[in-house]
Amino acid sequence: MKFFIDTANLNEIREAQALGVLDGVTTNPSLMAKEGITGKDNIMRHYKAICDIVDGDVSAEVISVDFEGMVREGEELVEIDEKIVVKIPMIREGIKALKYFSGKGIRTNCTLIFSPGQALVAAKAGATYISPFVGRLDDISTDGIALIEQILTIYRNYGFDTQVLAASVRHPMHIIQCAEVGADVMTGPLSAIEALLKHPLTDIGLEKFLSDYNKGNA
Ligand code: E4P
Repeated sequence: MKFFIDTANLNEIREAQALGVLDGVTTNPSLMAKEGITGKDNIMRHYKAICDIVDGDVSAEVISVDFEGMVREGEELVEIDEKIVVKIPMIREGIKALKYFSGKGIRTNCTLIFSPGQALVAAKAGATYISPFVGRLDDISTDGIALIEQILTIYRNYGFDTQVLAASVRHPMHIIQCAEVGADVMTGPLSAIEALLKHPLTDIGLEKFLSDYNKGNA
């Protein structure tokens, strides 16, 4: 399973890249706003800065909600760097844009997926990735991981190439559950990835190894 981080924070992206297990970055307009990145030029420069750090795909989301606007924005975004994947919302016009970009060989990530039907249509339109929001479904007492499983079954039944990018991942158990059901990619905060490293028996074991070494090598 590929690990993406869901942030526009350059320090966090550098830290994740340095860890050596990062496969890509996802952003969205809220994450860009959180970093105080406003205005088209600054936004484009920021995407470039992210691409310069990470070895992997960088999802950059369009703001337009009409087909022509999405096409215009997407074509500008892919000019920034070959790592850019155009993030398109799951709406009627978005489906047309996914189909258009797929025909042009431009990679896409269909975002705001909350149902298997949406995932099926996005795959038929040729999306490279689809992003079902696991955490936001869990927030409303609906099983986000069950949706990932359902989509994977549908994609396997028909041999779709579209990759299931489990998004809105919030904690380490989400990552493990995504891996158990076979999600292609997960995206979440760096803290959730770092939490996978931790176990108290590892800390206790290491302390003992080092203290035993030091006894004989003081
Ligand atoms: C997906 O690409 C979104 O950017 C993201 O994962 C949403 O996560 P949130 O529900 O934690 O905001």
